[in-house]
Amino acid sequence: MKVISTVAEFDAARKLLEDKTVGFVPTMGALHEGHASLIRRAVSECGAVVVSDFVNPTQFNNKTDFETYPRRLEDDAAFIEPMGVSVLFAPTVEEMYPEGTDYNKKVFDLGGLDRYGEGPRRPGHFNGMAQVVTRLFDIVRPDRAYFGEKDFQQLAIVEYFVKALGYNIEIVRCPIARGADGLALSSRNKLLTPGQREAAPHIYRSILKARDMVGRMPVAEAIKAVVSLIDADSRLRTEYVEIINSLTLRPVTDWNEAEHLRLTCAVYAGQVRLIDNIELR
Ligand code: PAF
Repeated sequence: MKVISTVAEFDAARKLLEDKTVGFVPTMGALHEGHASLIRRAVSECGAVVVSDFVNPTQFNNKTDFETYPRRLEDDAAFIEPMGVSVLFAPTVEEMYPEGTDYNKKVFDLGGLDRYGEGPRRPGHFNGMAQVVTRLFDIVRPDRAYFGEKDFQQLAIVEYFVKALGYNIEIVRCPIARGADGLALSSRNKLLTPGQREAAPHIYRSILKARDMVGRMPVAEAIKAVVSLIDADSRLRTEYVEIINSLTLRPVTDWNEAEHLRLTCAVYAGQVRLIDNIELR
């Protein structure tokens, strides 16, 4: 596995992969089993796999969140070395957004999919994510890119702009990887204190209960009930629970508004913001 930090070096390495199907797993590092499941799938389906490791400043709407985001490039490299990855691309901010270029100023049409959920709560987040993902796609030139459903809205937005911008890249949806206790795997879990880590699986246990509420009570009551279940653990504080149309991402107020429904949520454990989602129908 080559560890590369410049675009010029990457271009040279990419030339050697010309005859292969290139799979790409974009990450912000602090890699865990969730990333490993994407990487293993990419390795099993592609001739060569590129993983990127870059904490993208333009998708953080909170300075402290950006500064405290875990950075562990050496551990990451050691973790994925045995998995069969061809290149770990770990550029600097200057390399991704060089002075005098407009990569970090571009404004994207996100098809209105950023109007709900995380969009209004993290202003600029999805546009920043689109800036870095398109920049990475242009550098890596993958045939397939692998994204986890934990960031369900991100995945829908990536699918939207890949189509709108005419990228010839297959976006592969991968199911959420969870710990044995149900907690959705996330780099942010590394920031939890032992007590918060103990409380966090309660989020998944609580949202699963919503499946029994579908059609049995008004949507608003189901949301309230799930919030109460989560917040019953005093170490957790729900920011939102929404029940959304899985295709448009628009929150529903009636179960019959959409055939495919998903519950999405964001919950604080101390200062750590955790997101999760499950399919309801
Ligand atoms: O999901 C993430 O880790 C990030 O949003 C991504 C796709 C790597 C872009 O920075």
